[in-house]
Amino acid sequence: MKNISVIGAGTMGNGIVHVFAQSGYKVSLVDVNAIQLEKAVTTITKNLDRQIAKGLITEAQKAEALSNLTTFSDIATGVQKADLVVEAATENIDLKLNIFKQIDVAAPANAILASNTSSISITKIAAATNRPQQVIGMHFMNPVPVMKLVEIINGYATSKEVTDTIVTLSKQLGKVPCVVNDYPGFIANRILMPMINEAICSLYEGIAGVEEIDSIMKLGMAHPMGPLQLADFIGLDVCLSILNVLYSGFGNTKYAPCPLLVNMVMAGKLGIKTGEGFYTYSAGSKDLIVSERFKK
Ligand SMILES: NC(=O)c1ccc[n+]([C@@H]2O[C@H](COP(=O)([O-])OP(=O)(O)OC[C@H]3O[C@@H](n4cnc5c(N)ncnc54)[C@H](O)[C@@H]3O)[C@@H](O)[C@H]2O)c1
Repeated sequence: MKNISVIGAGTMGNGIVHVFAQSGYKVSLVDVNAIQLEKAVTTITKNLDRQIAKGLITEAQKAEALSNLTTFSDIATGVQKADLVVEAATENIDLKLNIFKQIDVAAPANAILASNTSSISITKIAAATNRPQQVIGMHFMNPVPVMKLVEIINGYATSKEVTDTIVTLSKQLGKVPCVVNDYPGFIANRILMPMINEAICSLYEGIAGVEEIDSIMKLGMAHPMGPLQLADFIGLDVCLSILNVLYSGFGNTKYAPCPLLVNMVMAGKLGIKTGEGFYTYSAGSKDLIVSERFKK
């Protein structure tokens, strides 16, 4: 594998490009939004600078990584030479199905098509293409250059050869691949989201406050972040949508989103990205100040 195309230059797209470009792959980054493309290049440059400051890479390695990167605003041109396409566009099923139809037409016949989706069925995405055996989930974690895990999701039709190729590739990127099957939430979110939902329900029922819930999980379970802080970090709208995927996918009420989470999303309190969730972030995302609403 030499040529990688990444679709979507947002939070995840720029991180995925970063690790591929730094590992010596030629990367074509595609986004419909020119401002996002510009922002992604700036972010990647800044993150490479941070690695230099930490003594992890040299100036020459930074220059080489950046020289591996080309940006495109059009999918058809951006995937023309791809050995692998990693789609990391907005989490919306119709949008992703449409993107995969376009990639399927424009990418070389032997190219593997991967999605970084957090919750959409890989089997469904694969069925929108004429090469379902070459479609797979490649679920990187945020921030991609730092987080070791790649959750690899086999769709119903994914071939063993394709899975093996993606496992080997992930290792070459310095990541640790874990292969799972395609059922709602895969493994990461199937386990994480009910925990976050339970934390929100505990707050909703008045069993404990924001600080107590997060401290108990940080200090008692050695989690680096409490579940409520993590929900703010992920985005409460994203948590709600994944819980709804689990709820409808399994038809089990144990996944029903907590009414407090639903209310907060309706009120536009989505966490860090809107400046308020369980904490407020006017002073910067690093300072943990409990939101006025949840102060005792
Ligand atoms: N943010 C996370 O923590 C996280 C973690 C793991 C997986 N994911 C998944 O990664 C994917 C991307 O998430 P994100 O947080 O980076 O989103 P984001 O909103 O930061 O970025 C999405 C990008 O997709 C672009 N886009 C939209 N339509 C497009 C199209 N038709 N063609 C090309 N580009 C298009 C947008 O312009 C935007 O730049 C989602 O599927 C999400 O579920 C996110």
